[in-house]
Amino acid sequence: MDMQKRRPIVLTGLQPTSGIHLGNYLGALQSWANIQDETDCLFFIADMHAITIPQDPGELRKNIIDCVAAYLACGLDSKKSHIFVQSQIAGHAELAWILSCIAPLGQLERMTQFKDKSSRQAGEFIGAGLLYYPVLMAADILLYNTHLVPVGEDQRQHLELTRDLAEKFNGIHGPLFNIPEPLIQGNCTRVMSLQNPTSKMSKSDHNSLATIFLSDDDDQIMKKFRSAVTDSGTEIRASDEKPGVQNLLNILSGVSGMSISELEVNHAGMGYGKFKTIVAEAVIECVRPIRERLETLKKDSQYLHSIVETGRAEAQARANATFASVCDLVGLARRPSI
Ligand code: TYM
Repeated sequence: MDMQKRRPIVLTGLQPTSGIHLGNYLGALQSWANIQDETDCLFFIADMHAITIPQDPGELRKNIIDCVAAYLACGLDSKKSHIFVQSQIAGHAELAWILSCIAPLGQLERMTQFKDKSSRQAGEFIGAGLLYYPVLMAADILLYNTHLVPVGEDQRQHLELTRDLAEKFNGIHGPLFNIPEPLIQGNCTRVMSLQNPTSKMSKSDHNSLATIFLSDDDDQIMKKFRSAVTDSGTEIRASDEKPGVQNLLNILSGVSGMSISELEVNHAGMGYGKFKTIVAEAVIECVRPIRERLETLKKDSQYLHSIVETGRAEAQARANATFASVCDLVGLARRPSI
């Protein structure tokens, strides 16, 4: 086994729906770039998760390639890591089916994200894919014998289910899967909406001032921070009673690398207006080079396709090996091709 294979295996991904935002960057992408040297990284684009809500086919295909551009613009390096698209590796859906047969229905129905999303669609059509979403996520992770899964706080419960399913499978069929650990670190594991700091920043927020997108220009970023909701006080202090200010401190900590206590000291006595401008300026400096790289990369779709083609070959080889073991243990027919 070479050095590359002995390093901990890291796997993670995001959904290619339009608009990668500051929460995705500070909660996920920023830290992914930093672990590429010490770990064996697989970064994928979760296009099959994206279709749990209706998608325009042309838009989705464009978003997949834009997502590759965003990965590279945020510092992922295809020479160090494998970048691929989920739907190109059939093993994700196949393993998800096998895991769904041992997944407790009650546990899936209790998943916070399922409850949130399905209650938002109350009275409308709710596809079973929304319920099975975390099982597909478990398959994504287990198919590559992953050790570490860097994600934001909102994915913690899905990781718990993944661990439960891995343990259950190993218990029934014999030891196969590593039990993966979530990697949820830093002050930005839950970046909140700028307009409603008690709910998380999200691409689907109807209030256009709530979310900073990596494609936002400097003026848009400044405008959104200037109108960020705070509170009626004046003190710049992280506290559960001051969710707006706490969110701004977390964001500033995420982009500057400074601790919350250092930031509290440095900005003591400053009015909220001035503080919001300082946070905006720091975010602008962080986002600008990403946005510029993103714009350049998006022009070279041939290059972006070549990256995922290389990633696909590596992912396919690894997935085939795991899936062959799964078939053996479960007693499914062996395939001549794997
Ligand atoms: P997605 O596309 O919703 O989000 C991608 C990553 O961004 C993090 N994130 C946030 N972090 C901090 N603050 C926020 N406001 C915020 N919003 C999003 C998410 O925690 C995530 O790390 N189900 C996953 C994609 C996925 C996956 C996987 C991840 C599918 N299979 C296997 C890891 C392993 C998702 O929808 O992420």
